[in-house]
Amino acid sequence: MKKQIQSIGVLTSGGDAPGMNAAIRAVVRAGAYYNLKVFGIYEGYQGLIENNIKELDARSVKNILNRGGTVLKSSRSEEFRTEAGRKKAHQNLQKHNIDALVIIGGDGSLTGGHIFSQEFDLPIIGIPGTIDNDLYGTDYTLGFDTATNVVIDCIDKIRDTAESHNRLFFVEVMGRDSGFIALRSALASGALDVVLPEEDSPMQDLFNELDKGEANQKTNKLVVVAEGNKMGDTFWIADQVRDKYPHLESKVTILGHLQRGGSPSCLDRVLASQLGVAAIEGLLEGKSKVMAGLIDNKIVFTSFEEAINKKIPLNKELLRISKILSI
Ligand code: F6P
Repeated sequence: MKKQIQSIGVLTSGGDAPGMNAAIRAVVRAGAYYNLKVFGIYEGYQGLIENNIKELDARSVKNILNRGGTVLKSSRSEEFRTEAGRKKAHQNLQKHNIDALVIIGGDGSLTGGHIFSQEFDLPIIGIPGTIDNDLYGTDYTLGFDTATNVVIDCIDKIRDTAESHNRLFFVEVMGRDSGFIALRSALASGALDVVLPEEDSPMQDLFNELDKGEANQKTNKLVVVAEGNKMGDTFWIADQVRDKYPHLESKVTILGHLQRGGSPSCLDRVLASQLGVAAIEGLLEGKSKVMAGLIDNKIVFTSFEEAINKKIPLNKELLRISKILSI
């Protein structure tokens, strides 16, 4: 018979995302509600290896719901990729009598959780926390909504100066392997074009859109570029355009890590609260090796394998709409 869960650990791992604190709060408070002992594991998997673990109670997570970043801190641990590292991590869990884990992070973090859970037969539930929105099994990951709102706020500001000087701006946004931030923010900010990792011939598409813009006398010329696009970095793309359109004055803005900061949006706070409670209730019901997500407003548990490995196709409809409206 499986041991009844009495004590859980929670950690945040990988790139921080707005809403992680709201999820930590939800896990700790739901744990307290169900009379579980809850331990905060600091600095992700690295903290687990280094025994950076403290017990948390309902009050220790006050005033964090509205804060960006993660109070538990985060890391991308190389040591946890090794068997020896994971062994140390497991020994520390045993020292604190921690029976189960909640991992808040992106695909790399859930992959680590999956291996750990299999090696030590440890119940683990994941919460999708990444601004990239690239996990299968949830409509939105924590941080994506906030990040895209930050991006459109920045693009609105760039538009003011672009319009004043009739300049062409390339705005690079995050998304290591995926174009979700780029596509959504391009549509929401009325960009002329968007360069996505998922597209086959983005340079020709870009030239076509620029030609169309010229023919239609568009004064707003903003192009959103996903950092993970397959062509090259944004400065290189701007150089290609300069060569072909020497009369256009091109500028590049890299938004970078400011996209990861700031107070989480209402959507991210609510999502984090729902998923935090779902993770605790899921563990108590005996679930493990699954990610809690929200699909069509319903909590869904997806196996780690599917969440990590299944590709989410680009929303072609959003791309189509974006092209129609950038005429
Ligand atoms: O995975 C989230 C993310 O912000 C990606 O969009 C980006 O490529 C990466 O993290 C940057 O990671 P780091 O902060 O470690 O440089």
